[in-house]
Amino acid sequence: MGSISGRYFLQLPGPTNVPDRILRAMSQPTIDHRGREFARLARGLMEGLQQVFRTSGPVVIYPSSGTGAWEAALVNTLSPRDKVLMFETGHFATLWRKMAARLGLEVDFVPGDWRHGVDPAVVEAKLREDRSRAIRAVAIVHNETSTGVTTRVAEVRKSMDAVGHPALLMVDTISSLASIEYRHAEWGVDVTVGCSQKGLMLPPGLGLNAISEKALSASKSARLAKSYWDWEAMLKDSQAGFFPYTPATNLLFGLREAIAMLLEEGLENVFARHSRHAEATRRAVNAWGLEVVCLNPEEYSSSLTAVMMPEGYDADELRKVILERFDMSLGTGLGKLKGKIFRIGHLGDFNDLMLAGTLSGIEMGLGLAGVPFRKGGVAAALDYLVTEEPYGDRSAEMRGVQ
Ligand SMILES: Cc1ncc(COP(=O)(O)O)c(C=O)c1O
Repeated sequence: MGSISGRYFLQLPGPTNVPDRILRAMSQPTIDHRGREFARLARGLMEGLQQVFRTSGPVVIYPSSGTGAWEAALVNTLSPRDKVLMFETGHFATLWRKMAARLGLEVDFVPGDWRHGVDPAVVEAKLREDRSRAIRAVAIVHNETSTGVTTRVAEVRKSMDAVGHPALLMVDTISSLASIEYRHAEWGVDVTVGCSQKGLMLPPGLGLNAISEKALSASKSARLAKSYWDWEAMLKDSQAGFFPYTPATNLLFGLREAIAMLLEEGLENVFARHSRHAEATRRAVNAWGLEVVCLNPEEYSSSLTAVMMPEGYDADELRKVILERFDMSLGTGLGKLKGKIFRIGHLGDFNDLMLAGTLSGIEMGLGLAGVPFRKGGVAAALDYLVTEEPYGDRSAEMRGVQ
């Protein structure tokens, strides 16, 4: 057993470390969710979330995990036996597909190798084949948290437009929102699914749907059964700043603080910070002589890096050594990658020294667990961090240097 003093390192790709500012914001007496103070809070959150999703349309907040927000996206817009096009990018895409099938949708699930994102050319080909326009929705995962691969959503949109196909576009941004650039309105996304416990730096417990006009009008005729997830009641009450049932009030206090922190830093700077830490992490992995799961550099994730273990070595054994010795949790391999990979979360409330600590724990752990590797990963990452200014040209200005 290692030292139990000092901070625990929660380096999963979510839930992420909750900053002190947010912990303090949540640590207040719960208020009346039908009172004026609450209404002010909720209306402010709507405006803030619109900036985060980059939309002027409505955003619904559920007291739920991300899975609930997936279900809300499907049941509000679709009818039994509707056709949905989905892509096997990894474990979470597979779970979303399972949910769609259980809800009575017909899923065309395009197979994948779990090392690439959605291929926009395949989206275009699939939609072109669909002459009867039977496909009602294309549902994709922006950042596959199980593999560390990011899909190019803007290009998927272009493929849909090239065919002029009317399907709705639904995007899971559970591990990309507020970490990787995302534009709900500009990219013509109809339902964006998000949650609290990753880039938003909150504990688990909030599920989010950003909704387009087209999705709203689809919801008027959608016939899948729904009650708790029904947008109609949520949107009606939210105009006055209320919810149709008891909201997660204290998480909403935290959300207000999270949005303030993100906007103070500036979303572009938040994205630049994440991509810089991701690059430093990949340099460490390469220097160790290990391989990242993502095969296409254009699809590298900025919020996590998934690392392949050398043949014959168990990733969960390594994770166990690192947890017991250094009090740091890393993400496990999910689904068919169980035991074969570990995942380094570098998203949310994070800085250079937290990354240095994370990579040091891994480098020491690799040695202790007897995994064959080359030393020098931490040094490679640090070399990059010192030469690469955190916010590029804006770094000096942000530090207040004249
Ligand atoms: C991309 C993605 N989608 C969906 C989910 C499911 O979210 P939750 O576990 O909050 O229900 C996760 C969880 O990590 C995820 O990473």
